[in-house]
Amino acid sequence: FHVDWDIVTAEKAGFDHFMLKEIHEQPKAYRDTLSSRIDASGTRVVLDEVKMSQDDIRSIQQVHIVACGTAYHAGLVGKGIIEKLARIPVETDVASEYRYRSPIITPNTLVMVVSQSGETADTLAALREAKRCGARVVAITNVVGSSVAREADDVITTWAGPEIAVASTKAYTSQLVAFYLFGLYLAQTLGTQEAGYIADVIAELKRLPEKVERILEQADTIKNWAEQVATHNNLFFIGRGLDYAVALEGSLKLKEISYIHSEAYAAGELKHGTLALIEEGIPVIALATQEELLEKTVSNIKEVKARGAHVFGLNAEGETELVKTVDEVFAIPHTLQLLSPALSVVPLQLLAYYASLARGNDVDKPRNLAKSVTVE
Ligand code: G6P
Repeated sequence: FHVDWDIVTAEKAGFDHFMLKEIHEQPKAYRDTLSSRIDASGTRVVLDEVKMSQDDIRSIQQVHIVACGTAYHAGLVGKGIIEKLARIPVETDVASEYRYRSPIITPNTLVMVVSQSGETADTLAALREAKRCGARVVAITNVVGSSVAREADDVITTWAGPEIAVASTKAYTSQLVAFYLFGLYLAQTLGTQEAGYIADVIAELKRLPEKVERILEQADTIKNWAEQVATHNNLFFIGRGLDYAVALEGSLKLKEISYIHSEAYAAGELKHGTLALIEEGIPVIALATQEELLEKTVSNIKEVKARGAHVFGLNAEGETELVKTVDEVFAIPHTLQLLSPALSVVPLQLLAYYASLARGNDVDKPRNLAKSVTVE
């Protein structure tokens, strides 16, 4: 496969790498994925592509989300979103594990597969197994006409546009938007949330693009963090709740392209083992955007600080507690707690990008990884 140098340069639209271009395309991906899926009054979600009847929705007893890699991490946030909005139990599985654990799939199980490419072999196999067991399958994919899109019962397309960099960015965040829309859609039908709350979430979803732009304007702060992090061989990401799900994605992104080993830990779980690895100077990226969990997260940050960690904290704008505890802080524009993953992942993408650059790696084509994996 050979691509002409000039064409590639042109496609990067002035950015040094596809990854950076794609990080910057996220405001547009958010707008495009939301567009035409919200009614004229701005208070209800319209998902015409989901053909489930009201009875179909009411019959859902459990949701299984199945995916690989970054899409799996979107599914972990998806679990939080659907459980909170629709009050239906959700399990999220890695596709290569799902089929082999004899999952309990019944006709009342809704299986959601998430795949940027729509061609990942393990995800496709999980989809087929779910159908064989009589479950309805909803796919979230970025590629219209992909195998996953053709075989699923319903398809929610993420309008992120082509993603070229191996490390997924705008596909992940668009998958989050698809989960928000679908979670709201279920909530509307099931009556599990007040109309006013649904309208508030929708209003905040529409504000995400502008808030991502504000984060991107502060990329230099994250570049500075990345240059510090790039001199280390090990680090930790910690967070609670949705912050933990985002920590997993931040850690994966960093490993994929900077080759720096990192571990994402549920902040409260550190003291059950891994705290032993916190040594003088080790960087810890602490996500603390969830107001309800802030106090607990701060106490976990104090545990690592006491052992000499250098803590980079992410909090919500206007929050004042974290600043007193961490070494460096980056504020995410204020939003609903449920929506914070759609913003807090952006600095972590930039962190991975600049750390990879600082280490002189091939950002867009990391060693040993492929954009789409079509073998099991
Ligand atoms: C590969 C890519 C990952 C991606 C995963 C799932 O491993 O390197 O970035 O998250 O496949 O891909 P999919 O197309 O199914 O989302």
